[in-house]
Amino acid sequence: MKPQRAHTPRPAAPGASSPATSTREPAHAFAMDDPRGSHSVSLLKALHILTRDGQLNQDSRRKLKQVNHLIQLMAGPLHALEGAASQEAPAHGGVVNSTPKPLVLVDHGCGKSYLGFMLYEWWGGARLSSPLEVIGIETRSELVEHAKTLARELSFKGMDFFNISAKEAGVSDLLPQSVSVVTALHACDTASDDAIEFALAKRAQLVFLVPCCQAELAAKLRAGKAKILAKTPLAELWRHPLHTREMGSQLTNVLRCLYLESQGYKVSVTELVGWEHSLKNELITASYTGQFKRSAALRLMALLEQFGLASLMPERYPRVKALLATAPLANALSSGPEIDQDDTLEAGGEATLSSVAPLP
Ligand SMILES: C[S@@+](CC[C@H](N)C(=O)[O-])C[C@H]1O[C@@H](n2cnc3c(N)ncnc32)[C@H](O)[C@@H]1O
Repeated sequence: MKPQRAHTPRPAAPGASSPATSTREPAHAFAMDDPRGSHSVSLLKALHILTRDGQLNQDSRRKLKQVNHLIQLMAGPLHALEGAASQEAPAHGGVVNSTPKPLVLVDHGCGKSYLGFMLYEWWGGARLSSPLEVIGIETRSELVEHAKTLARELSFKGMDFFNISAKEAGVSDLLPQSVSVVTALHACDTASDDAIEFALAKRAQLVFLVPCCQAELAAKLRAGKAKILAKTPLAELWRHPLHTREMGSQLTNVLRCLYLESQGYKVSVTELVGWEHSLKNELITASYTGQFKRSAALRLMALLEQFGLASLMPERYPRVKALLATAPLANALSSGPEIDQDDTLEAGGEATLSSVAPLP
């Protein structure tokens, strides 16, 4: 991994700095004692995070904290990706090609694109060594128009925005074939699921999701409650409406993690910021390893069965069936609970199915 570069100090006086230009080297570290992080005052004003006289209100402070922390967490993996890309860059006569492939990041449900703009400036945007392209996907046309105008005014040439849904993005010709990073910060309802499907289709190396509320699964839990209560006391976990919502949200994210794991990603789940800053605070980070996990797919399927959610499979987890089609299912479900011994399948290779924990 590339070492972090020295922090470029931010000018103290509001309005004293200018936003990143196309060749400026990035400020790769944050001044964590400064709520503005290492973003330029002019960018924060352009995003209306700072008021015209440079003040930060409570809401903006909260948003800034989330975005800053996310960028901080993204920094290491992005540098690792950059390092890997530079090693792959074709050399001509011993000289490394001077036009490396850009890192392409697609942000689903980008809203006002705070994350995109701040990330772009922090990275140094179109710097020659490792350019970054940021594409925002957003269903509200006025936000897309606004973001396009702002990117133009700031000369952030590597940014673009499309007025399509996260689901449409997966099949749209507007998006590049290959994408390095997928993000979705508080993208509503099932937009995080669509972002995952998009990442899988584009085989993105990194995925960062901070899911918002998801109503789809809770609605199904609610509908099947009485039937499942008759079978198992476990349904007590979501009998009360508040618990249905919480359980729906928890289960949704658990299934998302299993889906990503099944499709060759290493997944970690952490908090983004303290709960006092945001109730939607779970950060799911996934990096592509190429180790497809049949056991994760089986556990995902078993959970769907257990919770009466099997009807979600074709829409939400369409790749699971194809993965499981390569080995007999019955063996897997009846084998012992050796959950630590994960079986894996290299991308494109064959798997041996060894273990899966049957659910009660
Ligand atoms: C809560 S806002 C978050 C905005 C931004 N990511 C942030 O953190 O500031 C969610 C955004 O997602 C957009 N959105 C909702 N569903 C979407 C979908 N299916 N595809 C794309 N955008 C969507 C909404 O219009 C809204 O701007």
